[in-house]
Amino acid sequence: MNKYFVIGNPIEHSLSPLIHNYWFKKYKINSIYEKTKLETSGLRDFVEEMRINNSIKGVNVTVPFKSKIISFLDELSPISKETFSVNTIIKENKKLIGYNTDATAFQKTLEENNLWLNSSSLIIGAGGVTSSIIWGIRQLNLKDKIYIINRTKEKAEDLVSRLVPGLIGSGIEVLNWGEIPGVNLVINTTSLGLKQNDNLQLDFKKYQNKKECIFYDLIYNPKETNFLSNAKKRGNHIINGKMMFLIQAKQAFNLWTNIDPEIDAEILKIVNL
Ligand code: ATR
Repeated sequence: MNKYFVIGNPIEHSLSPLIHNYWFKKYKINSIYEKTKLETSGLRDFVEEMRINNSIKGVNVTVPFKSKIISFLDELSPISKETFSVNTIIKENKKLIGYNTDATAFQKTLEENNLWLNSSSLIIGAGGVTSSIIWGIRQLNLKDKIYIINRTKEKAEDLVSRLVPGLIGSGIEVLNWGEIPGVNLVINTTSLGLKQNDNLQLDFKKYQNKKECIFYDLIYNPKETNFLSNAKKRGNHIINGKMMFLIQAKQAFNLWTNIDPEIDAEILKIVNL
């Protein structure tokens, strides 16, 4: 039986095993998908095991290893290179190749919501997934500005300084924490919201009654973070991270098996937290 893993820390909350094992069963593939909690010190050994163990065919990578894993891989897809982020590894003739399906999944959710952006965007956070969000926006909109705010401003500046010119487009500006520009798309990429009482403490008063403004939280559990429920109360349009999560899984499954799995009613039930 072939094996697939998701590695991360923490990993308990991950719904990836439920989704991929459901698809393996549905498409009659004799494989199993498991979650593995790793420390950074265990990363090298895990990758070596993947390299020599013929039954391990693929791996998903999540927080906090999406960048750290890169130095252990043999090749990177162009998108992984541009975003210095890998969430999916495939094995091809003993070679380990890193892909980034977060970036393409995020782009797809913008497209599916008809968010053909004609406005600047604001990204909150500068963690591992932020470069994928910038990539997704830039596929659809090169001409408008992207603003970033992060509690630790230097981290956002560092991230921007490493971006390739193609992702900078007409400009990316790092603002001070608490400085809120007027844009049509505001995305929370921080981990704040995973706990029920988490609150970003940012003042979005200027968005009162702005129906056309989209507040997008990459978190999908809880379904509605305080960031989203406050936006809903203000009358803004809200999106959580559920579809992005499902689409990144769908694209990873496709890379491993060549099957394009369906996001069917059962899958939606699995993630209907
Ligand atoms: P990753 O492993 O994805 O890189 P990370 O580096 O911990 O995760 O990034 C998480 C993001 O959430 C960061 O932008 C972080 O802000 P800092 O760079 O200042 O640490 C943000 N974040 C986490 N806790 C936060 C909090 N209490 N308030 C504001 N931002 C927070």
